[in-house]
Amino acid sequence: MAVMILPYPNEITLSEKRRLLQESDLRLEHDDAIEPEGYRLEIDAHDAVLASSTDAGRFYGLQTFRQLQDADGFVPLCTISDAPRFSWRGFMVDSSRHIQTIDEIKAMIDAAAAYKLNIFHWHLCDDQGWRIESERYPLLHTVGGWRDGWGFGNPNPEKYGGWFTKAQIREIVQYCADRFITVVPEFDMPGHCSAVLKAYPALSCTGESCDVNTEAGVFSNVLCAGKEETFDFCCSVLEEIMELFPGEYIHIGGDEVPKDGWNNCPHCRKRMQDEHLANAEALQGYFTTRIARFLRANGKTPIGWNEVLEADLAPGEIVATKWWDPKGLCDDFANRGGKVIMEETRHVYLDYNYQTTSLRQSYSYDLLPDSFTDEGKRNVLGIEAPIWTEWVEDFKRMGYQVFPRLLAVAERGWTNEPQDYAGFKARAEAQRDALGARGIEMAPYAEWDPED
Ligand code: ACM
Ligand code: ZN
Repeated sequence: MAVMILPYPNEITLSEKRRLLQESDLRLEHDDAIEPEGYRLEIDAHDAVLASSTDAGRFYGLQTFRQLQDADGFVPLCTISDAPRFSWRGFMVDSSRHIQTIDEIKAMIDAAAAYKLNIFHWHLCDDQGWRIESERYPLLHTVGGWRDGWGFGNPNPEKYGGWFTKAQIREIVQYCADRFITVVPEFDMPGHCSAVLKAYPALSCTGESCDVNTEAGVFSNVLCAGKEETFDFCCSVLEEIMELFPGEYIHIGGDEVPKDGWNNCPHCRKRMQDEHLANAEALQGYFTTRIARFLRANGKTPIGWNEVLEADLAPGEIVATKWWDPKGLCDDFANRGGKVIMEETRHVYLDYNYQTTSLRQSYSYDLLPDSFTDEGKRNVLGIEAPIWTEWVEDFKRMGYQVFPRLLAVAERGWTNEPQDYAGFKARAEAQRDALGARGIEMAPYAEWDPED
């Protein structure tokens, strides 16, 4: 019998017999022997038990139950003993390049929760807009939140922008908590900071004013790593961010930082001299380490994109996100004891078109390749997939880009079972109506694997 459960449960025994059963008929049990996030579902002719050791496990058991139930309310008699392969099962939304409504964010969160994802990495600032209300530095959102025109080739000349109020952010954090999802906010620094520098130009190397960008790319104006004001500013903003986001993790970016400005800046050169830093890469290491230690002193765990490892960081300083890592810096880092999240472009960058990254490529992502030693493999926290929004102007487009590929991410993050692509594809297509009911239109089946 086909079981349309996604992600596929790790241990499942299924009978041909079915019985009519409501969620409220489930007898909920606590069982300390079950792993955190795991659950056991036992449905026979007389009884129906959902056991777990945590509320999260119970929640995941309920998601499975809902997928087992047919349109008439019948479920197969079964025994399922299930727990996730990885503790990090994430999705990232870029709200800078294009911003979403609160309802759209909630629809994404609901969908993610239904497939047992547990991390929402929220990319809240970039060169094209700052999206967090700040009381300490209000120009961040009132100035850095707007750009001249829609940008990215859209001819609409109206100002484009907006931000999330603190009340809205708290609402989203609670909405996630109710679904056992941790929100990981990102303040990307010291690059990708044009919106910050439009608001507070004194924080750049030259102090000259700049624009919030309307095009995609990597821009040369970055935060000055020589000036003390930069660190005061970043730490102060991070304090506001920590107040809003109670989760353990804060992402501090660190990707794509052009170094020309630093090499030509008297403040940055003095910093390199004073701190005995050999070059601008080492200066980024200094920057990352200082911010990361500030966060850890506040009880948080900092995360950075893999470029932060260009400097020689100790494994305990930061968690690395492996997105574009031709030198295998993350692999070495994990092998030395550092924690790594797998988020590679060619497998899980959901903004890429299906010609570049087919569903099959997402599904076949090997999260524990042999470039990781046994210790390195133990240091892989899990998987995450971003939807960057330069070319994702509205929610319809987001649904098309994200689904079904995020379903492959959910499956890779959860299941130990051997890969079965044909089975997975059928189960993914079976989610179309459920996603549609959430206002999410999955890409047409014929487009998932253009090569096939
Ligand atoms: C990235 O895609 N720049 C992390
Ligand atoms: Zn500088």
